[in-house]
Amino acid sequence: MTDPYNPARDGAQMSFDGRMSYTDYLGLDAVLDAQHPLSTAHDELLFIVQHQTSELWMQLALHELHAARDTLQAKDIRPAFKLLSRVSRIFEQLNSAWDVLRTMTPSDYTTFRDSLGQSSGFQSAQYREIEFLLGNRNVAMIRPHAHRPDLETRLRAELDKPSLYDCALARLAQAVPLPEAALARDLTKPHQPDETMQAAWAKVYRDPAQYWDLYELAEKLVDLEDYFRRWRFNHVTTVERVIGLKRGTGGTGGVSYLKRMLEVELFPDLWHLRTKL
Ligand code: HEM
Repeated sequence: MTDPYNPARDGAQMSFDGRMSYTDYLGLDAVLDAQHPLSTAHDELLFIVQHQTSELWMQLALHELHAARDTLQAKDIRPAFKLLSRVSRIFEQLNSAWDVLRTMTPSDYTTFRDSLGQSSGFQSAQYREIEFLLGNRNVAMIRPHAHRPDLETRLRAELDKPSLYDCALARLAQAVPLPEAALARDLTKPHQPDETMQAAWAKVYRDPAQYWDLYELAEKLVDLEDYFRRWRFNHVTTVERVIGLKRGTGGTGGVSYLKRMLEVELFPDLWHLRTKL
């Protein structure tokens, strides 16, 4: 019988005395020690891992979105397209992840739901920061973070900055003249549909060749919102499947609240202008 294959013979590093290993580099001890189910229910680990991995992907989405916003304020906006495509792919990743959670039935969830207390994704600071950065801003959503000054400060700081869409509008204004007043807005509020902006975007869509960068930017933003909307839809469908019409642990009406959120438009002009083309 031949000996089992030993990758060391092909040069695989097998000894890590004093050298950085995979576990060290990725901080896996901390990551894999961060799951602390509060019940003995089998499915609680799934629930925890699903939320934690979602938060990790959101951390990456924020990293890319901050870079995309900076790029929209730089000379050449084209590198932002790649960053925005990546964020869309991240949301697609999160969308596929619902399939795993959907294997948890109401019978499974009720075995540990009480352990959550009043905690809920509603209190996800990263989710709120993504919304604020994109342009869906609502000061009231900062309140659940008042007990964590670091998170509150971060969210408030985001409301002082132009949103990703504000930066897109500033670029639009450089190519298509817009009245100064049209760009001035209260940064703490969500974007509202605006006829002036839609007329300017319509120019871009009627002549893509002349305004190619803006045309591509607009489509990347619509793409991103498209994936974001699918995430919201997958979430509310999973929630209804698991808890029906019960109230949420976070205190909202549950499915009724999440259905209302389906109506949120991140970049309303980019959707409304399509009717006019
Ligand atoms: C069976 C699994 C889940 C159930 C039953 C559930 C339930 C709910 C409910 C009822 C709400 C409304 C707020 C409340 O009153 O609690 C909510 C909000 C939220 N959940 Fe989930 N959820 C689940 C999984 C997830 C996962 C995996 C994530 C990923 C991070 C997540 C993220 C969020 C976020 C970000 C919100 C706030 C949405 C907004 O304000 O627009 N949820 N969830």
